[in-house]
Amino acid sequence: MTSFIHSLKIGSFRAPNNIWLAPMAGVTDGPFRALCLRGGAGVVCAEMVSAHALHYANARSLRMLRIDEREKPVSMQIFGADEQTIAQAALAAQERGADIVDINAGCPVKKINKAGAGCVLMKDPVHLGRLVAAAVKAVSVPVTLKTRIGLKNGVLLGDEIARVAQNEGAAAVIIHARAAENVHNGEPDLAALAKICASVQIPVIGNGGIKDGATAQKFFDAGCSGIMVGRAAVGNPFVFQNICAELAGKESAPLTARRRVEIYLALIEENVAHYGEKIGIGRSKKTAGYWLRDFPMAAEVRGRFVRQETLAGIRELFAGLSF
Ligand SMILES: Cc1cc2nc3c(=O)[nH]c(=O)nc-3n(C[C@H](O)[C@H](O)[C@H](O)COP(=O)(O)O)c2cc1C
Repeated sequence: MTSFIHSLKIGSFRAPNNIWLAPMAGVTDGPFRALCLRGGAGVVCAEMVSAHALHYANARSLRMLRIDEREKPVSMQIFGADEQTIAQAALAAQERGADIVDINAGCPVKKINKAGAGCVLMKDPVHLGRLVAAAVKAVSVPVTLKTRIGLKNGVLLGDEIARVAQNEGAAAVIIHARAAENVHNGEPDLAALAKICASVQIPVIGNGGIKDGATAQKFFDAGCSGIMVGRAAVGNPFVFQNICAELAGKESAPLTARRRVEIYLALIEENVAHYGEKIGIGRSKKTAGYWLRDFPMAAEVRGRFVRQETLAGIRELFAGLSF
């Protein structure tokens, strides 16, 4: 049987495996990244950081670049629209210990697009190529580009973008196999992804709707060298090792609701240690729907959970749950 799981060489860096955590703003911070590495992710990607904000030494953005040894290997994602700030941000990420620097050319959020960053960069491959070249020149670690199959359904742009990235020195491209107009919804377009894979020699890491061995297999069949898992890791950071097992034809251990709540509590505790009680609990609440599910009265428990303001209160609430 073909082995889909293997270490993956990205320029000068060798990732221990080719199943990675996708960057998610507000989710893939230090505590969550460390958890996903324990769950089998080969590389974890940090939430996007604004190159412009880093240029102005914005304290929050600088904090987002912080990397702890237990979160490695890590890819730091930056977003921006001009060569100088992208180069500076890439260097700042490298100096903080990033193993890979990734440039965001796929985000469809209006505020980011208005500033000329994210998916709108796909409209101008020459400019996007200059951004990649500026980052490649600024750092010694590999630079990757995360983009999409295109902006609109049926209009493939990702193949040209991937070739431009390759020509300008990117070590890999990450392709979210949905058009930007679909945001994160709908089935991935694997035929479009296959065309992109066939158009470059650098590794293509595919992403979009991967949640188990069967969905992962389709991305490898399309020609991807690796895959990235986003939302399926929230609520199940062990999805990476489950995918590895399933691709190897083995059974994977399903996560019980009780175990999911135990892991969530451990993450909340990490968040409180990392950010302090107020911010740590606030951030934890944003993903409650992914964690507190599939047990009796889950909706009611979520309602009670979001009203909690102390770790002690959360511990007491979870201790009283019946599964
Ligand atoms: C809450 C959320 C935040 C995201 N933030 C980012 C981001 O900062 N950078 C990025 O490139 N993609 C971001 N994405 C897109 C994901 O990386 C990924 O491409 C997308 O969720 C599709 O993968 P999935 O179907 O496995 O979730 C975000 C997605 C979600 C749901």
